[in-house]
Amino acid sequence: MREIKSLLVTGGCGFIGSNFVRYWLEQHPESRVVVYDKLTYAGRKENLHDLWDTANVSLVVGDIGDQDLVRRTCQDEAIDLIVNFAAETHVDQSILGPLVFTDTNVRGTHVLLEVARELGIRLHHISTDEVYGHIKDNHQSVETDELAPRSPYAASKAAADQLVQAYAITYGIPVTITRGANNVGPYQYPEKAVPLFSTNAILGEPLPVYGDGLQMRDYAHVYDHCTGIEAVLLRGEIGEVYNVGTGREMTNLEMVDIVLDTLGKDHGLVKHVTDRPGHDRRYSMNVDKLRTLGWEPKYDPKQAVAEAARWYVDNRWWWEPIRSGEFREYYDRQYAERLAGTESK
Ligand code: NAD
Ligand code: TYD
Repeated sequence: MREIKSLLVTGGCGFIGSNFVRYWLEQHPESRVVVYDKLTYAGRKENLHDLWDTANVSLVVGDIGDQDLVRRTCQDEAIDLIVNFAAETHVDQSILGPLVFTDTNVRGTHVLLEVARELGIRLHHISTDEVYGHIKDNHQSVETDELAPRSPYAASKAAADQLVQAYAITYGIPVTITRGANNVGPYQYPEKAVPLFSTNAILGEPLPVYGDGLQMRDYAHVYDHCTGIEAVLLRGEIGEVYNVGTGREMTNLEMVDIVLDTLGKDHGLVKHVTDRPGHDRRYSMNVDKLRTLGWEPKYDPKQAVAEAARWYVDNRWWWEPIRSGEFREYYDRQYAERLAGTESK
């Protein structure tokens, strides 16, 4: 078991990053966490509202592409591990405005690798099942499968994933990678399907299901992603990649049913709308390699979706200000025509 004293958690104010920081400090209260975050629309200080007064947590507001600031922070804080969650993360946003995905996900990760190389720091990179592209028939992606991304988001994540592996091969720097399935849980920005559908259902607004809704995703609870990352940080083999998910998928229509049943809402709220261009039909990963580290997911995907939906009922303080603010502009741009049924097909 490795000892990790001081972590730089990039993107720690986002959905998974903030859940990870909270989980890590519960399990390892003796370590120090420096959250490094640009605070984009998806990065929210309130995601860690309960932790900012804790002595061993601090925040540096900055871009992972700012090499001087990343280097200085790592030196000043005696960082021994960088965990890179920072990214632009939404496929639909990557279709509307793709260039920032390359800036942050590719160049930003590259800068972190340069600093890690210069200072001799281990880097753990958070990748995604979307790098495998859409998965046919009954196959489940294994870590050695070829990467075949199909959206600007997925392509930028695949480039980052491969840069991390290339640095390990070329410079011998200590890296690990986890590829996570679709996560659900507390503090997920409501642009993503489960929080969007949950908050729309609570508000009595229609749920815009893309196309036939038969696309398949492994909806994994963010808690299990955090325990998976922890297992790799502490016991994973350096240089290796690990898939993290439940290994079980459901259709989006099944996910929508769980959300509506959990919230006691009418299924008439479902509205099929024009599909996302290039929509990946199915993601599915084999997670046996992570199991060899003694990890097991706690939630099955149905429980994960239901529990996530309930969180949005109990935490309106968190999402109501988001939904009434700048999110509205994005929502209208993305959905107004689709929901009115007037979009060009
Ligand atoms: P998120 O969008 O909720 O949060 C991203 C965070 O990164 C935000 O705090 C944002 O401010 C920060 N950030 C963005 N650009 C930055 C920059 N240039 N410099 C510094 N900080 C920056 O994302 P998430 O859902 O928590 O995803 C976290 C990571 O996990 C990402 O790398 C994503 O690709 C990966 N991932 C996500 C999922 C999922 O289902 N959400 C699944 C698998 C993998
Ligand atoms: P999302 O949460 O955006 O994750 P990803 O595209 O990265 O898998 O979407 C999950 C699934 O839900 C995906 O198949 C797209 C679909 N979806 C809709 O049907 N309607 C929506 O409004 C959104 C945001 C997603």
